[in-house]
Amino acid sequence: MTLEQERGQKLLRTLNSLLRTVLIHDDMNQQSVECVVNFVNAVLTGCAADEDEIRLQMRNGRFFVGGKKLLYSNDTAPLIQVLLDYFEKRQVSGVTFFSTIDAAKSTDILAFARLVNQADGKEDPLDWLKKQIDKKEFFWVAFLEPSQETDTFEAEGKEEGKVSDGKIRRARAQKTYSYGLFNLKEVALKLGEGRRAGINKSVRFVQNLVGLLNDDEPLMLGLSTIRIYDDYTYAHSVNVALLSMCIGKWIGLSPRALEKLGLCGLFHDLGKVSIPSMIIKKPGKLTVEEQIIMRAHSLHSVRQIIMLRAPQTRKAQLILPAFEHHMKFDHSGYPKPSHWNISLFGRIIAIADVFDAITSPRVYRKTSLSPHMAIGYMMEKAGKDFDPILLKVFINVLGVYPPGTVVELDSDEIGLVVDTPEENHASGLPRALLMMPDGNNGYIKGKTINLAEQSPDTGAYLRRIVNTVHPAAYNIQPVQYFF
Ligand SMILES: [Fe+2]
Ligand SMILES: [Fe+2]
Repeated sequence: MTLEQERGQKLLRTLNSLLRTVLIHDDMNQQSVECVVNFVNAVLTGCAADEDEIRLQMRNGRFFVGGKKLLYSNDTAPLIQVLLDYFEKRQVSGVTFFSTIDAAKSTDILAFARLVNQADGKEDPLDWLKKQIDKKEFFWVAFLEPSQETDTFEAEGKEEGKVSDGKIRRARAQKTYSYGLFNLKEVALKLGEGRRAGINKSVRFVQNLVGLLNDDEPLMLGLSTIRIYDDYTYAHSVNVALLSMCIGKWIGLSPRALEKLGLCGLFHDLGKVSIPSMIIKKPGKLTVEEQIIMRAHSLHSVRQIIMLRAPQTRKAQLILPAFEHHMKFDHSGYPKPSHWNISLFGRIIAIADVFDAITSPRVYRKTSLSPHMAIGYMMEKAGKDFDPILLKVFINVLGVYPPGTVVELDSDEIGLVVDTPEENHASGLPRALLMMPDGNNGYIKGKTINLAEQSPDTGAYLRRIVNTVHPAAYNIQPVQYFF
């Protein structure tokens, strides 16, 4: 039996004993105490050396531990069956235990087992369980959302050779995006009210993004064109996570590092919850006093990150880029500590941050650059505001005409840039969707054209780009046409 299988079985066995023991023994009983010790041990050995969590999931009548299917054997088959029935009754499809369980009181772990037992028969058992766990602040355990369960397993299905088609992938990507946005809002609202917020769901979200980035990078870039006016700060943070991770992938970061980078992107502006919304949403220029308040948000982000309910090691990874994201490559930004080397993640996030900020149309700001113009603007600041090498990587990722750019063509047509395929890299010319007027001031999606296509006789490009404009100028929401 492999080590992984052994660890998985140990987790199931000790969890089962824990759940049974609390039915008959109280907290002080020797057997209860032993069960807790064994279970905590199983969780900790289940957490691989550099991971700080172990995930147990159920699908199609099987258990998966850390994403690996638990094999049936003569001695485990009955246990697996009993536990599957047990969790099904409670609508639980997945649960994660974190290594912080190490510091949990044994009475808390026993209380947790009792809660799971009691969930049977409740109207909405999973919801009830989650609320109880939240109330008791057991943040060493988290039940998975059913949507997370689907996401994770579709990815695993793919590994097994079942490739989902583009439509399903796109739908899943959009669902992942809205889910991430929703979670981030939840975290920010809690912090804004001075309550503490956990980050398990955000972690799961960036993990899904890592999967998406591997499967379909253009789809991920397309997602970053989602613009939501009301929720600008949140959509911005999700976009910064997406774009930073794309840069991270190109410079060869490991999936684990990409996950950290994504989280840093997600939380870089968390400190904005401490800034009066009057200032955040003010149209036009800020006064000097307002600017001082606004500039404090990097430091507020650090404070809010410290307030998160999460393992210290995780929080430590998030602090630096949040503190650094407005410093600028040549240190001409803020804050201005003496002798400071801006971290790699800080430099990456600074690029994604500015790109998303200047291309986002906002109700309270009239001008926003087309993604293509934004690239031009940022190139002028290479070496000053931005790390020149990382900026080059970013432009490579996006193409000179990034997805979501509206191009006006010499054929009097307009197109919406979808991507720049590899074979077009020399010319930098993208592929675009033709936007056909629907007669109602709107557009419908036409065919996809390749702007690098040349006439076989003359060698001239069939269509030339004469101008690039922001999609908002044509009232176009790119994402509506991409998905
Ligand atoms: Fe910021
Ligand atoms: Fe930002």
